[in-house]
Amino acid sequence: MAESRNYKKYTVTTALPYANGPIHIGHLAGVYVPADIYVRYLRMRGRDVLFVGGSDEHGVPITIRARQENISPQQIVDHYHNKIKKSFEDFGISFDIYSRTSNPIHYQLSQDFFLKLLNKGELFTQNILQYYDEEAGQFLADRYIIGTCPHCGYTEAYGDQCEKCGSSLSPQELINPRSTLSGSAPVLKETLHWYLPLDKYEGWLREWILEGHKEWKPNVYGQCKSWLDQGLQPRAVTRDLDWGVPVPLPDAEGKVLYVWFEAPLGYISASIDWSKKTGKDWQPYWKNQDTKLIHFIGKDNIVFHCIIFPVMLKMEGSYILPENVPANEFMNLEGKKISTSRNWAVWLDEYLVDFPNKQDVLRYVLTINMPETKDSDFTWKNFQQHNNNELAAIYGNLVNRALVLTHKYYSGLVPENFLIEDEEMIYSFITKKRDEVTNYLEQFKFREALNSMMDVARFGNKYLTEKEPWKLAKTSPNITKGIIYNILQLVANLSLLSEPFLPFTAQKLRNILHINLLDWDKIGTPLLKTGARIEQPIILFEQISDEVIENQLNKLHKSDAVEVVNRLDDLKPIISWEDFEKIDLRVGQVISAEYISNADKLLKLQINIGGQIRTIVSGIAQHISPDQIINKKVILVANLEKKKIRGVESEGMVLFVENKNGDLMLVCADDNAKPGDKVK
Ligand code: MF3
Ligand code: ZN
Repeated sequence: MAESRNYKKYTVTTALPYANGPIHIGHLAGVYVPADIYVRYLRMRGRDVLFVGGSDEHGVPITIRARQENISPQQIVDHYHNKIKKSFEDFGISFDIYSRTSNPIHYQLSQDFFLKLLNKGELFTQNILQYYDEEAGQFLADRYIIGTCPHCGYTEAYGDQCEKCGSSLSPQELINPRSTLSGSAPVLKETLHWYLPLDKYEGWLREWILEGHKEWKPNVYGQCKSWLDQGLQPRAVTRDLDWGVPVPLPDAEGKVLYVWFEAPLGYISASIDWSKKTGKDWQPYWKNQDTKLIHFIGKDNIVFHCIIFPVMLKMEGSYILPENVPANEFMNLEGKKISTSRNWAVWLDEYLVDFPNKQDVLRYVLTINMPETKDSDFTWKNFQQHNNNELAAIYGNLVNRALVLTHKYYSGLVPENFLIEDEEMIYSFITKKRDEVTNYLEQFKFREALNSMMDVARFGNKYLTEKEPWKLAKTSPNITKGIIYNILQLVANLSLLSEPFLPFTAQKLRNILHINLLDWDKIGTPLLKTGARIEQPIILFEQISDEVIENQLNKLHKSDAVEVVNRLDDLKPIISWEDFEKIDLRVGQVISAEYISNADKLLKLQINIGGQIRTIVSGIAQHISPDQIINKKVILVANLEKKKIRGVESEGMVLFVENKNGDLMLVCADDNAKPGDKVK
């Protein structure tokens, strides 16, 4: 129960997920479920909490995705922001506000913040050489440059990392760099950037973290220590990019704030967004010394939340610093790292289609396996076991027995208590468990907290099993009443104690018992009055069969076998039949194919389409060689307007399959098809 200080307010933040994909169980287990448990618990203790979340909508990967799908970055983030927001709502993550960093409030706040640091003389500028694409007319983010890895010779390494050998790179280390925008070789050009002198704050950080926050989780403290021991370097906080928060200075055109500079400020702008929506003041949550600020994040975010952001806040001067940063490690899936691109994941939206109304089952299993101190593993078998052996067999079974007995013997009314000693013994047990849960939650030990909560349900089952009220009903009616009375009080207490972990179930239970209060301090006291009416039992947790689990495993492995999965998020808008019929598709036989000089992607094809030979320039040279395509019966768009490509007039377009990796494959007609035949 003990807290080192008396805090008046709590500000709890959760890492802002990138709005370029949906979220999966790893996100939930690492960040949002623990944060939500913690916040629900605080609220039940009557604490004044502001719980903020939002989407991180900037950064280079979003621009790359937009380019690939030929839509704007805003369209991408709009789509995923809404999807992610809905998933959080569906899983009961009880944010006071779920905002987003493309919100104008956020632009304003982060620009003001930047200017304040600048005016205080905290930032410095430096001219650096950076790759520039002259054809595209823009500077290139590291991810936009591909070249040969100096370590392993892989020819497709990115400017920041080689995915083959894993080494992290800087773009200037790449051999034969080329721009992914135009394919041309980039040139080095001078550009001005603003820097955060982290090195100047090293001493302060050592003091603040290494001396002042020894209570932080060992994984967090250890990572901070190793960063500090390596020595900190200044960090650029601006980028040459056209997607992000513009640098608010006249001489900074085409520059935006670095995403890791502005995204954490999103916690503050989300609070301002909340303030505008509710009319409440946001400032006490960020500026009062007796407010406790907690950041829930995953381990890959530690340096940003424990080092960079606190330095920014410290420089600015008017904000409080985080009191704790309970970062989790990662959750794997069936022994392998969760991977979005390989679709090795359990997506939250899909889970709810397959397991409607089973949010609490997933919340429970993610909590019991939470990667608190080391990476953990989610397996479907384990999911089934926890559901069947704990939620259904212990929690659900207890509630069901208590309610059924009440209806069977007392027509659904709480009986009188004739077993005062039992009642006292039960409250003292529950109080002890409540205090355990409290202590664990204060230390961010969610697995243990959950276990202590479940001890109460286990205790209830044991009590019933030992007392066997069904055998005593006829012979000892008063004792039976006492037993049922006590077990009902225990179940009622469980509807409060389990609220942070199983909010949907706890609410259902409180509805059945007609309990309206949500007060942590009332746990361990009588919550039901003799004579009160209780509703009929409902099934809170049903058994999950082997078949259902096998289906999930099959689904997972099937998608994995495909390796790269198209999620069809990029499906184009519906077109009319008339529009479709305008396209004239024909079979054509390739009679010659040759490379075009100075264009390493292009092949020049001569194609017989029956009574006519067409010349077509096709961007397939890196995937298909001339002798692989000669004589093939391909499909082409025969009525496409002509276009000059590298000096050659192209009269139509040949169809290919392109997978998500950008590999191209031929689409061929059946052997019996003749040049000029229609494709419909
Ligand atoms: N979008 C980042 C990630 O998914 C997290 C940003 S947290 C914030 O890793 F504090 F910067 F918002
Ligand atoms: Zn390499």
